[in-house]
Formats: sequence, C-alpha cells, structure tokens
Amino acid sequence: MIILGIESSCDETAIALVEDGTKILASEIRSQIEDHRVFGGVVPELASRCHVEALHPLLESALKSAGLDYPDIDAIAVTCGPGLQGALLVGVTAADTLAWILDRPLIGVNHLEGHIYANFLSFGAEIEFPLLVLLVSGGHTQLLHMAGHGLYQVLGNTRDDAIGEAFDKVARLLGLPYPGGPVIDQMARQGNPQAFDFPRSMLQERDFSFSGLKTSVLYAVRHLEQKKQPIPVADLCASFQAAAIDTLLEKTLRQVDQQGIRQLSVTGGVSANSYLREKLTQAASERGLQVFVPPLALCTDNAAMIAACGWYQWQRQKQDMRFQIQTHPRFPLPVTAA
Ligand code: KG4
Ligand code: ZN
Repeated sequence: MIILGIESSCDETAIALVEDGTKILASEIRSQIEDHRVFGGVVPELASRCHVEALHPLLESALKSAGLDYPDIDAIAVTCGPGLQGALLVGVTAADTLAWILDRPLIGVNHLEGHIYANFLSFGAEIEFPLLVLLVSGGHTQLLHMAGHGLYQVLGNTRDDAIGEAFDKVARLLGLPYPGGPVIDQMARQGNPQAFDFPRSMLQERDFSFSGLKTSVLYAVRHLEQKKQPIPVADLCASFQAAAIDTLLEKTLRQVDQQGIRQLSVTGGVSANSYLREKLTQAASERGLQVFVPPLALCTDNAAMIAACGWYQWQRQKQDMRFQIQTHPRFPLPVTAA
C-alpha cells in the first residue's frame, strides 16, 4: 500500500511516498528557514503562503523521483495538528482535495505521533513493546510509555519551555541565527561544557523544565556584559547543551530503570543533537539498553514519518476521514487509561 504523506504544520513543507509504512519511495522537503530567519522565528502568515507555493511542485517532484503517477497512490495521510492553524489548513485542504479527486481514503495524523513513527519507519519489526519514548521537539518534551501501536501513557511532560524551544531562545539571546538547535550543537563542539555551572533542575521529578536554565544563561551573559568582558559563546553553548541534555537523560534513564523497560525510542527535532546521540550510544552500551534514534533526515519535520504513521493507523482502524478532518493547533497525543 503506497501512502502519500503531507506535512505542513510549521515551517517545513514536506511530501513523501511510503510503501507499507517501511519503505521510503520519495521524501521531499522545502524548508522555510531562510524565509523566516530575518524575523528571528516563524511568522505564521508567511508560513501558510510558503506552503501554498511549495506543495504542488513538491508533489510533482516526489512522484517523479519515485517513478509513480497519481493513480498509484493508495491513500493520503496528512498532519492535522498540533501546529500553526493556517499552515495546517493548507496541507489538510490539499489532502482533502486529492483524496476526493483520486477517490482514495484520507488519514489524519497527529504530528507528535508522526515523530514517534519515524523510528518505526526506520527500524520496523526490531522495535518491541512495551517501549519508552522520549519525544523532544520544538514544542514538546515528553516521556511516554508505549504499550502497543497507538497506545500511550505520559510519564513526564513539559512544565514550561520545551527543550527545542529552550535551544532556540538561548541561541537568540546569544545572537545566533534561527533555528538555534543545530547552531548551538555546532558551536558547542568548540566549547567547554564545564565552563559554566548551569543548574540541572527538578532532577527528582518526572516532568521537565528548561526555562530556569534559559534564565541562567541570560544572567551569565548580563553579568559578563556588565563587567565588559567578552562573551564566550562556544563555552556558553556547550555548558547550556550539557545541562539541558544531561537533565533530560538522567530523568529518562531513571524511568527506564523504574519501568524495567529495555527499549528506548528517541524522536523529534532535538534527537538530531550530536551530544544527545553520543550520550545515548554510551547509555545503551553501559546499560544493555536498546536505543532507537532516527537517521538525521527523519529527526526533524518530514512527511515520510506522517505517511508511515498513517499506514499503521490505517492497519488498526481503516477509518477514511475524507471531508471530516479538523485542524487542531493544540492536539495532544491520544492517551490510554492507566
Ligand atoms: O521536530 P521539529 O523539527 O519540529 C517540531 O515539531 O517542533 O523540531 C524542531 C526543533 C527546533 O527547536 C530546533 O532548534 C531543534 O528541533 N533542533 C535541534 C537540533 N536540530 C533541530 N536541537 C538541538 N540540536 C540539534 N542538532
Ligand atoms: Zn515536528
């Protein structure tokens, strides 16, 4: 079954063709980073317009690179939230129209669940249940217990800033370009992670909080400015990154031990972070833990994960959502009872 995936929840327009939830036939992404960079963050109205311009050419190019034509598409999966309302509407309208013209089923996908399925797309049958999932993106920091496909319980949640958001805000206050995560990751390689002793907060709690850490970076910068000292950007990046990722991992690994689960899936934009990936490899070998992290291209937003998630959803529910999909700017994962 070939599923066309459409993703337009934020600042990436993406189209993919995926066979049986496991084989990527084409995956095209048009990033809007350059369009938004001058504003220091995503401008919703601009994002919607860029999606409108990009969708059709991307669709044509994905079909061409997969050697397929419109009738080869068996179903369409589209992100319906969470995300920017106008941006989501562009993708959902395109998906609904195509489903109607081609007379194919339409599957609405939760973007967060899409990130989780980036690992099922990459590692498929290797992943067993129960599984712990660490979802780290621009808007979310969640630790989940996954009992089976589509069955989630939240073990830990974002209290304030999500980890990706903290990377972006810290980069901004250091005068680094948007999006901050990849830039901090890069800069941190030349810095000393012990140069600043930033707080590792709420270590005993399951929930996550990164706004105190962000404020500590701000105070450190102000202090240096007041003393008219140079700002050691690389050291600040390395120290911030180490504090954020160490906290994230300590909490996650404690849950791994408490739950007695030997498989951990890490997904979302921040899973591209090289320090996190290195620490995960280390934890895996020290603890005999099996860790799944998507290849870099599937960490940040893409449509292949949406198509894969749509395929798994279709296997479970066979629910055609043509003309029924609502966009949900806020759209938590469907959580199962304890
Ligand atoms: O999953 P994603 O592409 O979009 C959302 O669903 O939010 O995540 C984007 C977030 C941004 O905050 C970005 O700064 C962060 O992921 N990010 C990174 C890295 N690459 C992207 N954070 C840290 N290190 C990276 N290498
Ligand atoms: Zn995302």
